[in-house]
Amino acid sequence: MTVIYSTSEQDLSDAARRIREGALIAFPTETVYGLGANACDGEALARLYAAKGRPRFNPLILHAASTDALEPYVHFSDQAIALAKRFWPGPLTIVLPQQAETPVSKLASAGLPTAAVRVPSSETARELLFHAKTPVAAPSANVSGGLSPTKPSHVLAGLNGKIDGLIEGDDCRVGVESTIIDLSSETPVLLRAGGLPKEDIEKALGQPLTHAHDSFEDDKARPSPGLLNSHYAPKATLRLNATSPQNGETLLGFGTVTGASMNLSASSDLVEAAANLFAMLHEMDALGVDAIAVSPIPTDGLGAAINDRLNRASAPRSSE
Ligand code: TXA
Ligand code: MG
Repeated sequence: MTVIYSTSEQDLSDAARRIREGALIAFPTETVYGLGANACDGEALARLYAAKGRPRFNPLILHAASTDALEPYVHFSDQAIALAKRFWPGPLTIVLPQQAETPVSKLASAGLPTAAVRVPSSETARELLFHAKTPVAAPSANVSGGLSPTKPSHVLAGLNGKIDGLIEGDDCRVGVESTIIDLSSETPVLLRAGGLPKEDIEKALGQPLTHAHDSFEDDKARPSPGLLNSHYAPKATLRLNATSPQNGETLLGFGTVTGASMNLSASSDLVEAAANLFAMLHEMDALGVDAIAVSPIPTDGLGAAINDRLNRASAPRSSE
């Protein structure tokens, strides 16, 4: 049974205790809803993979309420400390070498010597993480391959009955997943465009980020497990960079377009568009739309993450 929790202090500390004891509890972050489990509890993580229907053990992001709380688990380089000071709490995930004696389960890192860590800015998430007193592994709270959830109803649509609890909080302000950068080797690498524009990170680092290739002929060749071509998929087919809808298509607009059923941002605001992206795709799925045409979206700032998610959603479906 899936218990619904409020954001009261009592509920958040109850939910945190249950996570510590092995339960799977979905919670809001500023990016998307996460499905939280105790990262040191291999059995809870195995149940998490099963609940999401993930056939492969992709590594998970470790969430904590503060940078200090993550120090026992990963080695922070000077660059990592600088980025943490500048952007945490917030929509940035950093991949770092793990501490040798870490209690984190190998299932969380999928056996890698590195771990991805993040301090989210959502007040609800931070209060939950503060009470959990253990790093919380949290992938997006959706069935594998489906759209990421930005509202409690999206979580329940996919996972009701399969998870132990859901904290009903605010809708997600940012709306796309965190930006992931790998600082575990010499040069900083952008692994996933996301809620923090890469331009901001480059400015803070004073150097450009190397890009992990974001499209591969063969998914097995990907540098970061889990960055599959087909991901974040709605049920409908997607056609991108569409100037107008063709026969039978529903137009998801951006900017001043005519004939759009929904508009990610009529004022061409990429922040607003990111926040609306998954919610509008979910809504079109709920309406039973078969074919979605999407207006062209600029590729700078948050446009990089929006275009990345749309490209993956329009790619041929992989087996995940
Ligand atoms: O905004 C977010 O990041 C959300 C919220 C809930 O925090 N979480 C999220 O988790 O998007 P998930 O599991 O859907 O995506 C995590 C990504 C995967 O693509 C995985 O491959 C990558 O992080 N990742 C995790 N650990 C890694 C590591 N050690 N090295 C490289 N990539 C890693
Ligand atoms: Mg995900």
